[in-house]
Amino acid sequence: MLIDSFDRKIEYLRISVTKQCNFRCQYCMPDTPENFLDKDSLIPLDKMFEFVKVAIDEGIKKIRITGGEPLLREDLSSFIASIRSYAPSIELALTTNGYFLKKYAKSLKESGLDRLNISLDSLKPSRVVVISKRDVLPQILEGIDEAQRVGFPIKLNMVPLKGINDDEIIPMLEYASQRNMTLRYIEFMENHHANSKLRGLNEAEILQIISQKYKILEIPKQTLGPSKSFKLAENNAIFGIIAPHNDDFCKSCNRIRLTSEGTICPCLYYQEAVDAKEGILEGDLAKMRESIRLSVKNKPEKNQWDLDQNEHSARAFYYTGG
Ligand code: 5AD
Ligand code: SF4
Repeated sequence: MLIDSFDRKIEYLRISVTKQCNFRCQYCMPDTPENFLDKDSLIPLDKMFEFVKVAIDEGIKKIRITGGEPLLREDLSSFIASIRSYAPSIELALTTNGYFLKKYAKSLKESGLDRLNISLDSLKPSRVVVISKRDVLPQILEGIDEAQRVGFPIKLNMVPLKGINDDEIIPMLEYASQRNMTLRYIEFMENHHANSKLRGLNEAEILQIISQKYKILEIPKQTLGPSKSFKLAENNAIFGIIAPHNDDFCKSCNRIRLTSEGTICPCLYYQEAVDAKEGILEGDLAKMRESIRLSVKNKPEKNQWDLDQNEHSARAFYYTGG
């Protein structure tokens, strides 16, 4: 079992399998060069799988695969299938921008993946171009349809931004609930790689907009993790808000992150990462176990948001996987 210095049980591993992405979202990496590649530094997925086995043996019960865009990584379905056959009861989820789902949803489902989180910030084609710098709404929507057709439970992630998509807070909620998906609003997290002109909406502002049309009921927290859940009195539609600017965000944190280059990050906003690359590439089980334990020991009590804006925000979300 993995317990950190603040008595939190660490059971959730997020794995970023690539920093690369085919989108250039304003809040993530709008100015990263198009030809930026991380092929040379990538850990092969069979080595990654050895690490995952050690992590599961140490007590990890939930794994989320992220990126960059994870579906850019070839053979992701067989990586997932290997994890599933090693640990039949583990919770396995994937966060994606949806672009490749039309092609891969079926094989992902067959590999034993449980759930999908899909990023969707707007239902207007021209807005999606503004936000992700790509004309990709039709492909994303087709990807969502295919993922639903093969039977995935889906959460949609929306980052509400002032003057950009804040008029779609209600339409997005209606789109999601009509299709039996849960929408989660994520407060924009400022960071050095994002467009510095962006201003996000906070939890109170989001709730205020929704309450102009619907009566909102708060649902008591059922699961660990940073999302708060709400329900609309009118139709029981459920939605969530992730508000990392709030004080209690870190209290229930149960996660560590592995980057595509083999670094374990115990927190989003903390530079105290553990380089596990050597142990992973050598297939050295004892070294991998030590790295995992050290990162849990290093896990800070809180994100360093208010302490050192410059240092913490230097970490790229496409690197640590959000
Ligand atoms: N602020 C908030 N959310 C972000 N994401 C990426 N960068 C940021 C940021 N700066 C979220 C997006 C996407 C997921 C992969 O990470 O909502 O859905
Ligand atoms: Fe790509 Fe996701 Fe970053 Fe957008 S938020 S650029 S889809 S990794």
